[in-house]
Order: sequence, then structure tokens, then C-alpha cells
Amino acid sequence: MDILEAISAHALLFAAASLVAWTIYGTIYRLYLSPISSFPGPKLAALTFWYEFYYDICPNMGSTLFTCLHISTPEFYETLYSSSKKRDKWYWFTKLFGLDNSTFATTDHNIHRMRRAPLNSFFSVASVRRLQPLIEERVQIFLQRLRGLTGTGEVTNMAVVTSAFSNDVIMMYTFGRMYHRLEAPDFDSANHFQNHEAGKMAPLMKHAIWILRIIQALPESILSRMDPALASLVELKNSMRKQIIQISSEKNNSPWILTVITYYLLSHPTVLHNLTTELCNAIPNPHISIPEATLANLPYLTGVIKEGLRLGCGVSSRLQRIPHQPLLFPNSTKHRDWIIPAGTPVSMTSMLVHHDESIFPNSEKFQPERWEDPRLERYLVAFSKGSRQCLGMNLAWAEMHLWVSSVFRRFGSKVIRFEGDEGVLELVRTDLEDVRIVADRFVPIVKEGSNGVRVRVLPRE
Ligand SMILES: *[C@@H]1O[C@H](CO)[C@@H](O)[C@H](O)[C@H]1NC(C)=O
Ligand SMILES: *[C@@H]1O[C@H](CO)[C@@H](O)[C@H](O)[C@H]1NC(C)=O
Ligand SMILES: *[C@@H]1O[C@H](CO)[C@@H](O)[C@H](O)[C@H]1NC(C)=O
Repeated sequence: MDILEAISAHALLFAAASLVAWTIYGTIYRLYLSPISSFPGPKLAALTFWYEFYYDICPNMGSTLFTCLHISTPEFYETLYSSSKKRDKWYWFTKLFGLDNSTFATTDHNIHRMRRAPLNSFFSVASVRRLQPLIEERVQIFLQRLRGLTGTGEVTNMAVVTSAFSNDVIMMYTFGRMYHRLEAPDFDSANHFQNHEAGKMAPLMKHAIWILRIIQALPESILSRMDPALASLVELKNSMRKQIIQISSEKNNSPWILTVITYYLLSHPTVLHNLTTELCNAIPNPHISIPEATLANLPYLTGVIKEGLRLGCGVSSRLQRIPHQPLLFPNSTKHRDWIIPAGTPVSMTSMLVHHDESIFPNSEKFQPERWEDPRLERYLVAFSKGSRQCLGMNLAWAEMHLWVSSVFRRFGSKVIRFEGDEGVLELVRTDLEDVRIVADRFVPIVKEGSNGVRVRVLPRE
């Protein structure tokens, strides 16, 4: 017995000593020896993922964006998110979707190319434009719902309505059937809020993927009795097929963007005036369908949507790419060039690019006319760029062109009326704080307690 005890005591001591030695080695390596140890940034962040965990989860969930080291130089975007160079995604991040083999979460550059090729033509501009009648049909249903709400005083949450619209469109587009969420009495708000809650779990999943694995293994009956957020994750997992999740994770930004646009149009009369003037000229008869290609050529409409994309950001989180070759990051003041070693996950975010004051002066302001300058085009990165650019981008553009032009060709605001308008959209207890992004949880998050962008429809006179 004594000998055994002595051995196990020694083993324990040895294990403890190894752990300490390993930790000390790891610390020294990460701080001084690693090829990226000379890069600026918080030393604690270089040392441990717990740093990111703390800022992601604890004080104000989703704020690592403002505290860790990533690249903000807009000029570097096209280098990092290259179409020609090999870039892997980072498993530490993509695993949180729990769909390792989906195109979106595929980390390896070559495998991704193979999986994505057949999808590209399905989502090309030409394919999307062929299916314009399908989007128009949904827009018409939406307009009918607005007419039905006219004068009732009922308050509608724009994020819920636009999610219903976008969900119906993607379902019809990919499966030829839909849940008719736009026709549901409350626009199926439960579905919208479930997805939103599940989205908020993303930063936690990144750090503790075992939670997701346990959730996936547990019987549903147990889960639905636990936290509603967990139940909604299960709902998300089961009520949609994997392809739907994949495709919506590629294009889930259009509803948010439409909500942001609605807010700015209804709170900026001069912008709405310019837009309705352009729309009335381009669409003399609102009952006749206009090809999306024509809408895409309307400069002010396009400026409004780009401003919505810029301020709404799309996916706000940093998107890591792992270069196969070392990356040169030149210091603009030419004092030193940084060489980022191959295999290092490097990230940028639309939020910092879209708010770079040297490119977008007064970047907090909604100014569609700034897009008259064609040089700005390359700094609009709401759909990211390169070989992993958002798959559903063309569909999202078509949705936005058709939705914004149809709604604001027919409805004005209290201040901006025009000939032949059908009624007035009015913001209800909504202000800038309801659209201003304060945190990032993969998707942009506005201030806690916001009730969203809410509108009421008033009759013509
Ligand atoms: C992904 O595919 C590999 C090989 O095809 C398979 O072994 C693995 O189980 C799959 N993973 C998931 C999460 O489906
Ligand atoms: C509206 O259009 C006028 C005339 O084209 C232009 O001068 C003005 O800057 C525009 N206003 C806004 C807010 O876009
Ligand atoms: C560029 O170099 C200067 C001088 O060394 C330094 O102050 C600045 O932070 C560097 N900028 C970047 C982006 O590395």
C-alpha cells in the first residue's frame, strides 16, 4: 500500500509539474518565440482564448470586435478576401454552425471550391433575374398586408415582416415551396425571434462547442423543457433542412438591411423625397412590373440600398481567412512591413471598413448621394469578397431592389407625400438607437431592450 501511495503521489506531482512547465513554455512561446509574437495588441489576447471569451461573453456580449487585434485598413480587404489566392476558413469559428460539411462551413479552400461550383450558377445574376416573378409575388402579398393594416393603428415590427418576406423567398427559390410566413396573422414572429435568440448563442458556441454537441445529442423532449434559447436552437436544427440553414446563413442579411433602410427613409425626409421622385419618374405606372436590371440602374435607389448595407453591415463579425502563403501587410507610413506567416487566421470586419472616416466621412450619417463616387464601390464589403463571398448576394440585391422600389413607390411618410400614393408609413417610438449597432454576435446587435423598428400604416387622407 505504502509503495502504491508513494507512486501515485509521485505521479501526481509529476503531472502537476508537467502542467506547470507546459504552461510556462506555452506562455513564453506565445509571447516571445511565436512568429506572430511581435505583432501589436493586448498580450493577454495573444496568450489565451479566455481573453476573447471574456469580451465575447461576459460584460457586454459580443464586443471582442472592439478589443482584439485585427486589421482595419480597408485597402487590405481585397488582399485578404482574395478571389485568386488560396484561403481556408478557421475551424475554431466555423464549427459553431454545427454543419461541418456544409459549403458555408467548409474550411478547406479546394474542397469549398468543389462544393460551391454547382451552387454559383444557381445564384447567379441571370438565374435570380429569371425568378423575379417569384419575388414580386411575395412583394405583392406584403403590400396587401400593408393595405390591410391601414388605419387599424396596429404597430408592426419591420424586422419580423422582412424576415417573413425573406424566408418565403428563399424557400420558394430553393425548394419550390414555402411556409407562407407573410400571410401568417403575426407574420410568424415566433420564428423570427427564435432565430434571433439562436443567433445570439453563436459567440458562446465558438468557445464551448461541446455545449452544441450535447444539445445535438439530447432528446428533444428534454431540451424543449429547458431554456427557450436552447429549445430554439433545436427548433432551428430540426424545423429546417441543413441546406436551408446553409443558404440562409449565406444571405441572412437582407431582412436586417431592409429594416435599417425603412428607418432611415422614414426619419430623413429629404432622402425619401429624392427617392420617391426618382421612383415616380422611373415607374410611372406602379401596376406594371419593372425588370430588376432597370431598377439596378436607378442611381438614387441603389445609393439608398448601399447606404443601408453600409450601416447595416450584413455580417458584422470578423471573418477569418487562413492564407496558404505568407501575407505582406504594408505599413502605410512605410516604417515597417508586417509579414503574417502562412497558416495564421487573419480577420477583418465590415464594421470597421464601413466606418473608416477617410473613405466614408461622417460615417454615422445616412447619405445615399455619397455613392455617386464610383471609387467607393470596392469598400462596400457587406457580402464580403473573394472566393467565399456571400453566395446569396444577387438574390439579396434583387429582394432589396424590388421591395424598396415597390413599397416606397406606393407609401410616403407624414412629411413626404406624392401623387398617387396609397398611404403613409409612420415610425412608432423608434429612434436611431434601434438601428445603431453596439455589439457583434456574428450578426449585428443593437442596444439591449430595443423593441425594433416599428411602423404604423395611416390612410391616405
Ligand atoms: C463530414 O464528412 C465526413 C467525411 O465525408 C464524415 O466523416 C463526417 O462525419 C461528416 N461530418 C458531419 C458533421 O456530418
Ligand atoms: C436630393 O437631390 C438633390 C438634387 O439632385 C441633391 O442636391 C441633394 O443632395 C439630394 N439630397 C439628399 C439628402 O440626398
Ligand atoms: C506604422 O509604423 C509606425 C512607426 O513605427 C507606427 O507608429 C504605426 O503604428 C504603424 N502602423 C501600423 C498599421 O502598423
